[in-house]
Order: sequence, then C-alpha cells, then structure tokens
Amino acid sequence: MKKVHKIGLFDSGLGGLTVLKALEEVLPQVPKIYYGDTLHLPYGDKSDEAIIGYSLRIVEFLRQKGCDVIVIACNSASAAAGAVLEQSFPSLIFVNVIDPVVASLADGNEKKVGLLGTRATVRSEEYPRRLSVLNNNVELVSLPTPLLVPLIEDGFLRSGIAEQVLRHYLNSPSLNGITSIVPGCTHYPLLKELAQKVLKDVRWIDAPEIVAAQVKQWWDSESRLNQPNKNGETEFFVSDKTESFMELAQSTFGISASWETAVLP
Ligand code: DGL
Repeated sequence: MKKVHKIGLFDSGLGGLTVLKALEEVLPQVPKIYYGDTLHLPYGDKSDEAIIGYSLRIVEFLRQKGCDVIVIACNSASAAAGAVLEQSFPSLIFVNVIDPVVASLADGNEKKVGLLGTRATVRSEEYPRRLSVLNNNVELVSLPTPLLVPLIEDGFLRSGIAEQVLRHYLNSPSLNGITSIVPGCTHYPLLKELAQKVLKDVRWIDAPEIVAAQVKQWWDSESRLNQPNKNGETEFFVSDKTESFMELAQSTFGISASWETAVLP
C-alpha cells in the first residue's frame, strides 16, 4: 500500500471543475488541489508555446504542494502540453482528458462523431490522430467553437445567447449525420442540456465521467491507500481572483470554499 497523496487538477478557469466534480464522485477520500489559471484564460486561443509555459509552471506548483498524480483537466493543455509535461516531470503520473475519451470511442459502435473543441484542441488534431491509431472506422469531425468558453466564464450559460451560439455551431453542415458528440473542452459538459435540446437524437458523451473512471481504475489497480471514512479536502487556487469567478464557481458547481491566489513565477 502506498501513502496517501494528492491529485492535482488544472484548467484555464472553471472548466476543469467538471472533471473535479466527476472525480469527487468516484474518489471522494483522496485529497485534491484545483488550480484555475484565470489570469491566462482562455487557453484555447493561445499558441502551443504559451500553453506549455503556463502548464509547466502550474504542474511545478502542484508538485510542490504534494500532488503526485496530475489530471490535466483541460483539453487545450492536454493537446498542446501533455507530452512535454510527461517528459519534464518523470516522477509524476499524468492523466490527460483526451486519451480516456478516445479509448471509449474506439471501443464503441460509433460511425460518425462530432468533436467540439477550442481552436488549440482542434488545431492539434490530437483526437483524430489518437483515434485512428486505435480504430480507423470511426469518422471524427472536429469543429472549433471558440465563443463557448467566454460565454460560460462570463455567466451566460443559461441565457438565450448561449443557446443561439450553440445552435449556430451545431447547425454546421460538417456535423450532418453524427451519432454522438464529444465535448472536447472541459467547459462544454455544462452545455449538455442545451446541446441535447438542439440535437435531439445525438448522444452526448459524458467526458468528465469517462476521465474520472479512468483515474479510479488506475488508483484501484495501484492499491493506493485512501483515507477511510473521511472525505479528502480539496484546496482551490487561481492565478487571478475575481468576485465573478468565485460567484460562478458557487452558482454553477456549489463550491463555497475560499479560493487562494497563487501567481506563478
Ligand atoms: N477548458 C479548457 C479546455 O478543455 C480550456 C478552454 C479555454 O480556456 O479556452 O480546452
């Protein structure tokens, strides 16, 4: 049995909290640290170099805080920085948010799948590349949807504007004939209900749950020690603390814990 350690998760802002929530369901006993890089949000419109730089600093911060498992709770960072992070921190275990979802697509019976993602994620072509290695029979159509993250981060999730923008994207002719849709950005699971209203017969892939199940499976296979009968605490950090961010974290995810500011060198 190994010592109890911490799981570190990071994202540009609120999105990774969809992964944290799913992880809390399956591994409630494990202490966690969440870092939202609000100072540099959105990641999806940044260069790979910028995303790699932010990610390296965050992982170093999480490592110093005692995390030995890092969940890259951001598709843009998973795509742009995943490999560099693994090389740079060989003593840490990394779980990205792309591989578990790709593996579940490869095992399923999907014919044509739509992927909504940030510009960085779509530009990387990491989803189709990794999927084609596992299963060549699934057609994956990727659509950059850059307006969705700012809408969510600015609190427009439940507004008509969000619905209009989502409708605009989902009406893209390239998505004709898809049987399921992957929210290829950790902010997008918050759009599940709206998307299902627009695309009634299309299956929405529950990406955070798939990622959390993968972490749990690994955790169990490692016989990692859990703190019995006790919920592990989660600490919350941001690079720039604003009232609106904390309000949204509270109203959207029920997080009332206090957020600490940690600006990284
Ligand atoms: N939630 C992140 C992702 O999965 C980043 C979104 C953004 O900051 O653009 O890609």
